[in-house]
Amino acid sequence: MKNSRYRDKSLKPGYGILFKSWESFFTRRLFHRVQDCWNRPIASSPGAHIQVMERITKDGNKSFQTTGNLIPAMNVGSYNYLGFADDWKETCRKDVMESVDKFPLSMASSRMDFGTISYHKELEERVARFVGKEAAIVYAMGYGTNSSTIPAIMGSESLIISDSLNHTSIVNGSRASASNIRVFTHNDIDQLERVLREAIIKGQPRHHRPWKKILVMVEGIYSMEGDICRLPEIVQVCKKYKAYLYVDEAHSIGALGKSGRGVCEQTGVDPNDVGKL
Ligand SMILES: Cc1ncc(COP(=O)(O)O)c(C=O)c1O
Repeated sequence: MKNSRYRDKSLKPGYGILFKSWESFFTRRLFHRVQDCWNRPIASSPGAHIQVMERITKDGNKSFQTTGNLIPAMNVGSYNYLGFADDWKETCRKDVMESVDKFPLSMASSRMDFGTISYHKELEERVARFVGKEAAIVYAMGYGTNSSTIPAIMGSESLIISDSLNHTSIVNGSRASASNIRVFTHNDIDQLERVLREAIIKGQPRHHRPWKKILVMVEGIYSMEGDICRLPEIVQVCKKYKAYLYVDEAHSIGALGKSGRGVCEQTGVDPNDVGKL
């Protein structure tokens, strides 16, 4: 790599090369030049309005120095349905600060790497009780939940039937599983039933043996459209054809239902009818 024409001339002495040849093309030619458009540090809680820290660069955006000035800005990059992120009503600030004193901040990372603490367990028990299920697993990231859970529960000889407007984490999780995938038109129950019936009649590709498992995947509230899934009808179809049902409630837990228990509470569906046959 020493004489490579791709060698990054800004590489500091004593540091290794992170990328080989063309692998660094994006970083060198694009990312460094435009990176000030994102990853902007803020000096406030991430509520509806934020204080962005002003920065300058002397090396074409490779590094930045903050000036000490704060730029007031509107936050259109994150959501905060429950108000926990800016907490102007003081819902959880005291508890958060207490736990930050007790536990390292790295506890917000992957538990596989950083371990499980008593708060994780307590949270899982509470979440399970809250949504009316026998148990829960808490992940640090919504995207990671779908992209790691779906391959874990679905394998070869199984079929995923996915709403056409499902989030990209569901799409990628489904693709990462060894499962077959069919898509039905968004919230169209008749089409869901047609796809299910046809899949069951035809069975698996080539040898036509029955599917080992069929999973219908929908969302509680669809993030880009804002509409709610027709859960009671979807549950009926799943029960009729003995398919499992997976409901991603990223936007509906806390936001729907009289006590915030999500789309089941909102539509009067028994939580036991989600997940199980
Ligand atoms: C339905 C749905 N599932 C999962 C995710 C991923 O969640 P996160 O952004 O917390 O990783 C999103 C993100 O908006 C979503 O809309």
